[in-house]
Amino acid sequence: PRSIWLSRHGESEFNLSGQIGGDANISDRGELYARALPDLVTSSVGDDRQLTIWTSTLKRTIQTARFLHASPKGYDKLEWKALDELDSGVCDGLTYQEIADQYPEDFKARDDDKHNYRYRGGESYRDVVIRLEPIIMELERSENIIIVTHQAVLRCIYAYYMNVPQEKSPWMEVPLHTLIKLTPRAYSTEEQRFKANI
Ligand code: F6P
Repeated sequence: PRSIWLSRHGESEFNLSGQIGGDANISDRGELYARALPDLVTSSVGDDRQLTIWTSTLKRTIQTARFLHASPKGYDKLEWKALDELDSGVCDGLTYQEIADQYPEDFKARDDDKHNYRYRGGESYRDVVIRLEPIIMELERSENIIIVTHQAVLRCIYAYYMNVPQEKSPWMEVPLHTLIKLTPRAYSTEEQRFKANI
């Protein structure tokens, strides 16, 4: 059966400083994940099939996928703007504490309705779900895709396949350094997780 592989990028410098958004490089630990990814993927695939890598256009996903792309298997790679992280507008590059201090009303509004809250000059989860429609359509007619993208984007894709209401998905935890393999079946989607040993 066809499966879809999902991963967040390896830990980034912004993950370490608690800043959101941005276009930071991956950290040393993130680099370890990037190096571990080819073996992790091979062990989860179970045969020698070729996968195609989809990343966002941001450095942290491209850096994370680069060993997979350059591995002996040499998986093809495609960069999608539609896979970029939720745009946090004027809050891009801030920490949650800074957002709470500088935009207290926004901070509360987001907490009250995270799915619909749109950052000033940025996006809501609802917006992300809509911009992911072409990705989902392409996924439905493709086979053997591994997607390396961002937490908010993964929440939306994961919710689609796992039948989680999109209003709930903004609160789901998507762990770093973990490969998720989804296999859609007739009535439900089977899920396996592979945690990198780093
Ligand atoms: O902290 C990592 C991150 O991917 C940020 O770049 C992004 O803004 C955030 O998670 C999304 O999570 P939440 O919607 O819970 O703020």
